[in-house]
Amino acid sequence: MQQVSSENEKGYLPALKTKIDNIENYDVVFIGFPTWGMQLPPPIKSFLHQYDLSGKTVIPFNTNGGYGIGSSFDTVKQLCPKSKILKGFSIRGGSERDGKLLVIKEKEAAEAEAKVVEWLRSINLLK
Ligand SMILES: Cc1cc2nc3c(=O)[nH]c(=O)nc-3n(C[C@H](O)[C@H](O)[C@H](O)COP(=O)(O)O)c2cc1C
Repeated sequence: MQQVSSENEKGYLPALKTKIDNIENYDVVFIGFPTWGMQLPPPIKSFLHQYDLSGKTVIPFNTNGGYGIGSSFDTVKQLCPKSKILKGFSIRGGSERDGKLLVIKEKEAAEAEAKVVEWLRSINLLK
């Protein structure tokens, strides 16, 4: 938490370990991330600085520890000024504090799936 606060303050953009050689082949890009320090995590900021998603459809989705998306979706919009950004999705994920490291299982997995399906239908990506 302390690390992410300081990275956010400095605008630190960590180097990414993986590289996408053919980003131009994709018209639709889903961007998934957790909320960190009520912001978009620094590696996702790095990704959006590194790749030009102009003209593409960008779809953000998020997990969080119960405090919501913070400024993360707004930052996606700022970093993709020439993309078509569809309505994002957010759901509560794991919570280390409560010892729930993988929360999306069993009943919660079924509930999460239903919410994802509803969201995908609402943005016309699923019939
Ligand atoms: C460094 C760090 C900072 C976090 N900051 C927030 C926060 O500001 N708000 C929040 O709701 N959750 C916060 N979380 C909780 C994560 O968003 C949550 O653990 C994650 O979305 C769970 O995803 P998963 O179920 O895919 O593992 C933070 C977690 C970490 C590790």
